[in-house]
Amino acid sequence: MTSPNEPRTTGAVGAPINRVDGRLKVTGAARYSAEIPVDDLAYGVIVQSTIARGTIDRIDAGEAEQLPGVIAVMTPRNAPKLESLQKFEREGSKGSRPTGRALSLLQNDSVHYNGQPIALVIAESIEVAMHAASLVRTTYRVDQPTIDMATALPSAYPSTEKIYGREPPATQRGDLQAGLAAADVRLDVVYTTPMETHNPMEMHATIAAWDGDKLTLWDATQNVHGVRGTIAKTLSIPPEQVRVISHFIGGAFGGKGSAWSHVVLAALAAREVRRPVKLVLTRRQMFGPVGGRPHTVQHVTLGAARDGTLTALRHDSTSSTSTIEEWVEAATLATRILYDCPNEETSHRLVRLNVGTPTFMRAPGEASGMFALESALDELSYELRMDPIALRLKNYAEADPESGKPWSSKSLRQCYALGAERFGWARRTAEPRSMRDGDQLVGLGMATATYPVRRMPASADACIYPDGRAVIKAGSHDLGTGTYTILTQLAADALGIPLGCIRVELGDTDLPQNPISAGSMTVASTGSAVHLAAMAAREKLIQLAVTDPRSPLHVAQHGAVEIAGGRLTLHGDVDRGESIEELLARNGGQPIEGRADAKPGDETQVYSMHAFGSIFAELRVDPDLGTVRVGRLVGAYAAGRILNPKTARSQLMGGITFGMGMALMEHTITDLRSGRYVNADIAEYHIPVHADVPGIEVFFVDEHDEHVDPIGAKGLGEIGMTGVAAAIANAVFHATGVRVRDLPITLDKLL
Ligand code: MOS
Repeated sequence: MTSPNEPRTTGAVGAPINRVDGRLKVTGAARYSAEIPVDDLAYGVIVQSTIARGTIDRIDAGEAEQLPGVIAVMTPRNAPKLESLQKFEREGSKGSRPTGRALSLLQNDSVHYNGQPIALVIAESIEVAMHAASLVRTTYRVDQPTIDMATALPSAYPSTEKIYGREPPATQRGDLQAGLAAADVRLDVVYTTPMETHNPMEMHATIAAWDGDKLTLWDATQNVHGVRGTIAKTLSIPPEQVRVISHFIGGAFGGKGSAWSHVVLAALAAREVRRPVKLVLTRRQMFGPVGGRPHTVQHVTLGAARDGTLTALRHDSTSSTSTIEEWVEAATLATRILYDCPNEETSHRLVRLNVGTPTFMRAPGEASGMFALESALDELSYELRMDPIALRLKNYAEADPESGKPWSSKSLRQCYALGAERFGWARRTAEPRSMRDGDQLVGLGMATATYPVRRMPASADACIYPDGRAVIKAGSHDLGTGTYTILTQLAADALGIPLGCIRVELGDTDLPQNPISAGSMTVASTGSAVHLAAMAAREKLIQLAVTDPRSPLHVAQHGAVEIAGGRLTLHGDVDRGESIEELLARNGGQPIEGRADAKPGDETQVYSMHAFGSIFAELRVDPDLGTVRVGRLVGAYAAGRILNPKTARSQLMGGITFGMGMALMEHTITDLRSGRYVNADIAEYHIPVHADVPGIEVFFVDEHDEHVDPIGAKGLGEIGMTGVAAAIANAVFHATGVRVRDLPITLDKLL
């Protein structure tokens, strides 16, 4: 399938190579945002509200200001007024917020959630700043907050904004009531998922430094260009005056996709005190001010014929948002496309609570929504006495049931088959409580996985230097995912230059514009741009050779020139050729540059594009203690071309582990009186540790997709998270006969 202007592969893409930044990371040479050495640094510490709703009555920073080493204390009394926000307030809700999110920038006295930033101490050391922060005295006029999702549920209202600016908040096809009337079996159930909080290894961190009217932010962000735009608008300065750098990120998962309050506060503080300011959130401050996954209450109604054919499917999701901003957990998007049901309705509603505004958290919407949908399918399979995979195959969608568009590719059948085979699904006996290991109850469960293929405009430069090395530049990010590595591989194959001679530069607004690294779209967006930029540089190199009378390749056919190992040769005649160094040395010793501005084309109008997979769980439940031990998690995925099986497998293992945390552990608990985040640390907020994580096995189904993007890759950042919570809940039911519809599945729910 190599077309004339496609490079013949040198085999870098598709090889399980190690991370190119691995050595930097394990030796500590990779510098994260908080580690950047900056001279004359001052330290900022945020003071947070201790009530969930009300007004600041008095805020007394006197004692704090007098502490030796304190440089300034910024409060709503003295913080600089931001004209952009004043204008936004004056003009009402028209137009989008300059800050993107509803941030707490000390512009007024209102308190909307417990833990809201209400002041910032800047001091000579972190210790002094922390001590001073504890000395800021605040009194409030307290209003009654709304904290409890359950009691606030009657106040739910339909979400009317398009989701992600694109998807309708509600959909309807066919006639749901007729479909329910025609059903032999009906299911009408409610599932809930709790608030969850981002706990990446690296906390949010910003260093802000001004040089005249130019601002540099070293920020732990997965969205350098987005942060630049937000900061520029908020501070009313041109974007060119803001540079955002994020070379290494210790996990992001969606939490680092927005410029949150602390980023702007660091910039403001640095301007006020005329010194660079470092502001690192504490683990505790990760709960509230920087978002997380909201609560959901999901109502699923299914109707099916005796043979398993779905006749009706309704999925309504109500999720929590803050009182200052609407944020929708898009829990029914996957439901719209997964099964071929003619009569279907989906909707999203919101409940306003006095909590920090929620945000994207790995597979936002799909992870929580597919827990409900894929649990409901499992419940239906027992009603019908039908194998859960057979039920899914019975309703297999051959085309996108919502849009009617063909899939760009879909290999879900193969994923079910491969997953079932590798897992050993055939040994499962259908009855709940029918499998045992000693006195332990054994459960086997499965679910479908899916995530959309998204792509945004992205640009890249590829530069080949006279020494035969190449540098790739793109203002994208490596969140710990392997972006540096797969971009190196793509460039190596396109340029014909060895992996070790290629350097990839990411995470800087001085580099070509790239989108947020989220939505599993970095490979499709940035990967395509890098491929095309490298191809453009390759073409220039070949052009130079075939038009250079002194080149052994002079007047050769363009398409007959190959580049491999840094050498240009004639196809079929490896002796005729020369090295890149020789060619460039003879031609003025100038670098060769290729540039690509890549963007999606008409394919999105023609095809529906999704990655698919299957996930299987085997676990043991202690019938006396209710403890769940997951023994195996086996996933099979089809996601187009797999650029690097090693980093791809890691991504999926991470996603599956995250899904296991969702199933069994993660739960942000708020005190229903005060709105205080009760378990705001990783001793009390549980996530899987090594000892919890079972054998995870990941398999790939070969899939060729020529429609998704120029490199045929679909992205893997999030699909691993989807379906896992349902597969585990389904296995728990199979083991115990207890259907847990409220995550997380803790032992109290099994006793
Ligand atoms: Mo992800 S939640 O799209 O970073």
